[in-house]
Amino acid sequence: MYNTQKITDDLTWIGASDRRLALFENVYPVPNGISYNSYLLTDDKTVLLDTVDASVGKQFFENLLFALNGRMLDYIIINHMEPDHCAEIANLLKMYPAAKIVCNAQTQKMLGQFFTLDVPQEQYVIVKEGENLNTGHHTLRFVMAPMVHWPEVMVTYDETDQTLFSADAFGTFGALNGNIFADEVNFERDYLDEARRYYTNIVGKYGPQVLALLNKAKNLKIKRICPLHGFIWRQNLGWFVAKYQKWATYEPEEKGIIIAYGSIYGNTQNAAEILASKLAAQGVKNIKIYDVSVTHPSYIISEAFRVNTLVFASVTYNAGIFVNMDNLLRDITAHNLQNRSIATMDNGTWAATAGKQMRDELAKLKNCTFIEPHISVKSAINPSQTSDLDNLVETILYNLR
Ligand code: FEO
Repeated sequence: MYNTQKITDDLTWIGASDRRLALFENVYPVPNGISYNSYLLTDDKTVLLDTVDASVGKQFFENLLFALNGRMLDYIIINHMEPDHCAEIANLLKMYPAAKIVCNAQTQKMLGQFFTLDVPQEQYVIVKEGENLNTGHHTLRFVMAPMVHWPEVMVTYDETDQTLFSADAFGTFGALNGNIFADEVNFERDYLDEARRYYTNIVGKYGPQVLALLNKAKNLKIKRICPLHGFIWRQNLGWFVAKYQKWATYEPEEKGIIIAYGSIYGNTQNAAEILASKLAAQGVKNIKIYDVSVTHPSYIISEAFRVNTLVFASVTYNAGIFVNMDNLLRDITAHNLQNRSIATMDNGTWAATAGKQMRDELAKLKNCTFIEPHISVKSAINPSQTSDLDNLVETILYNLR
């Protein structure tokens, strides 16, 4: 049966949630599921904004048929061609073969790559930056948002209702639980961490492009944001936009420290835990320790975007960095993290080489400073290294002030 929700008299949420998916993009754990949002505008013309992932296709079509209430579909706007949103386009066109496809030239090209469609060129409405589509009472304006998160991405601004259909931007991991509006839940307490993990891992690499979109959005009066994942925003928009501004400029949200360690038998872990205890003894409260073999890197990347001070401790493994730490550090550099203070510790029974290799990888990050001294453990941390640890604590404290 259909499961739709009204956003306004003529705008309906027709999306659905997947609670069975283990890994979003086959990479990111989504223990609380994921929602795929789709929207139907029922103006003089009927307009669908994006479809959904194939996993919720059946629900989507039930929702669409109900929301259309017997009307034909006039327009399909494609804001984003990633399959978690475009998967049902071919099936949709089988049901509504005369629907016009509104997209930009790059999207049309991708459409031809993903699907074999028999759609004549005159059925496409190819749009460029700032162009409009009038659907009766509503005027929709198209704003290009390349690399937020793919190159073809655009967002659609409904000038009439001041609604921004923001594609992947302003999305959140997690299924929806009946409430589709962010103001109906305690977002900061229950969802901010997953919003940050979604942003940093999915579009974190593209900060300048996100900033470009935020700058364009400054010129629009926005009453409502309708993203493709997670909640619709109609209150307190400035608070969430400010978070995006921080993340996109790679500024930490707060002074705090994470210690991520890769340890085989617990000796590198012990060194990391002792460092944390020493920091706690100095009154530091915002400390989080992560075992890179236990915590998926997407969570640690998200945390690395949150705080200003990062410690990485790795055992030497195959004459290199411990495999899970290696994966984490490469993922962090791939996401272009900047403006952080970083300390390193390594361990090696006969040749501790991980530290140098960790620093070589982390040195690729812009505007990041190494905190000294580097601590090198030989098998197990030794009381003779207490003064080195105390010196490291001192320099970390300076950073956290
Ligand atoms: Fe939710 Fe870039 O797709």
